[in-house]
Amino acid sequence: MSAPILTVTHLSASIAGQQVVEDVSFEVPATGITAVLGRNGVGKTSTMRAVLGLISRRGKVLLAGERIDGLPTHRIVQRGVGYVPEDREVFASLTVAENLALAERDSKPRREFVAELFPDLMARRSQLAGTLSGGQQQMVSVARALLNDNRILLVDEPTKGLAPKIVGDVARALQEAAKIVPILLVEQNLDVVRALADGAIVIAGGRVVHTGKARDILDDDALTTRLLGVSAEVHS
Ligand SMILES: Nc1ncnc2c1ncn2[C@@H]1O[C@H](COP(=O)(O)OP(=O)(O)OP(=O)(O)O)[C@@H](O)[C@H]1O
Ligand SMILES: [Mg+2]
Repeated sequence: MSAPILTVTHLSASIAGQQVVEDVSFEVPATGITAVLGRNGVGKTSTMRAVLGLISRRGKVLLAGERIDGLPTHRIVQRGVGYVPEDREVFASLTVAENLALAERDSKPRREFVAELFPDLMARRSQLAGTLSGGQQQMVSVARALLNDNRILLVDEPTKGLAPKIVGDVARALQEAAKIVPILLVEQNLDVVRALADGAIVIAGGRVVHTGKARDILDDDALTTRLLGVSAEVHS
């Protein structure tokens, strides 16, 4: 197997003096989608924010073998760590085209790839992003990250609050995106995890409590009930 794109070792992090990530270690392979699972409030978002240096952290983070844990956020972003935050965070009063233009960092942004992946957004280029549906806003958020040649994307709960039909659209977009960039995906919708993720890590109480193949975890009903508080039986 090729070297991991991201290696996190004994990561801890705090917000306003309170420790929210206790001791997190995991590896993200250089291809495909790796899921981060765990109940509400266990530290999934904080782990991503700690990797990005958005909150004060300790521990070791390697991007393609090079340490990034001592770098400020803008340098981590320049090295190629893309972020699609929880709640999307598009510029509501700007158009779709403006949102995308503002995200371009590289000299050769992947405009054609994004246009092919999101034809619906291209048809809405002049529409204010704040007037888009939640699913369309999520597409804008993913598209922004895909414009640049990132080495990994950190994607936080992209399907949260979306209608079931739209969940499928977002999942398909992520599946296509993963063909060009590895993705670390926080996702509570276990059907989406089952469809997309290769590996998975489970966080509880600020620590990684389980690592394995996503399907093996989801197929273990006792494990998912204990660690996630839900049954992962396939709904179809
Ligand atoms: N800005 C903040 N100030 C204080 N505590 C915070 C802040 N953000 C998060 N926390 C706390 O840190 C812990 C981890 O939160 P985090 O958002 O990382 O969890 P999560 O696994 O992403 O949860 P969710 O599933 O709800 O998105 C929680 O106990 C939360 O209350
Ligand atoms: Mg979260």
